[in-house]
Amino acid sequence: MNITNVFNSSVGKKFIMAITGLALFLFVLLHMLGNLQVFLGAEAINRYGAFLQGNVELLWPARIGLLVLVVLHIWAAIKLSAENKAARPVAYANYNPTAASYASQTMLMSGLIILAFIIYHLLHFTVQVPAVNFTHKSFVELHDAKNQHDVFAMLILGFERPVVVLIYVIAMFLLFLHLSHGMQAMFSSLGWKNAAYAPMISRFAVVISWLIFAGYVIIPISVLLGYGHGYLVEHNYLQEVAK
Ligand code: HEM
Repeated sequence: MNITNVFNSSVGKKFIMAITGLALFLFVLLHMLGNLQVFLGAEAINRYGAFLQGNVELLWPARIGLLVLVVLHIWAAIKLSAENKAARPVAYANYNPTAASYASQTMLMSGLIILAFIIYHLLHFTVQVPAVNFTHKSFVELHDAKNQHDVFAMLILGFERPVVVLIYVIAMFLLFLHLSHGMQAMFSSLGWKNAAYAPMISRFAVVISWLIFAGYVIIPISVLLGYGHGYLVEHNYLQEVAK
């Protein structure tokens, strides 16, 4: 198959979805492990943040790569969904939704909501828009004793508001739904799924997706339950939280 066929055929688009999905999954896994360093304390996560921010030659190619992956993944999803509809203009007479899993029917919808979450998330922690983070001051101004960006304080302040925690938990649940089905589809599209391994692959996809959900939501939930609060009091950061 040549490169034009990859972009024009259905099989090619499924391949693009699977490969970009796999790469995005690896990002989600690495980002989660990076974020979990918040439980090692302010020094560890601030050092990690300074390392990422300081490596511009690593940061920008990674950001551009991620953007290309997201664009290709969404483009292939929309095209494939339109092609499926065109191939079956009249809905099945006896369509039985219980036959297909709930997650598989909601892939396009969960994917688009995750995209909206990513835009919100970038405004929250990367662009650091005060109106989004519910503080008077931009997170950019938070610095620790070593004059590094205080990522620890930013994360704790960022989840001081229960409504923000709720947005994250809902988005992470949609990510769970999306990943648990998406990973199974990826194994099929790459030809790694056969009848003998299918049940094992399904179980693996669901378990790993729950682990991703847990690894992410544990951060905002712990903050809501008081984790890191002492640090904010100690550094007089609490007055930053908008009343
Ligand atoms: C509790 C959950 C999460 C936390 C605490 C978190 C934390 C962060 C932080 C602190 C940053 C800013 C890094 C910086 O610029 O200094 C960031 C950036 C980012 N996050 Fe998350 N994140 C979470 C979930 C997610 C999820 C689920 C996704 C994707 C589906 C995601 C995608 C991104 C992306 C694309 C960036 C931008 C990276 C960059 O170019 O700087 N995050 N996240």
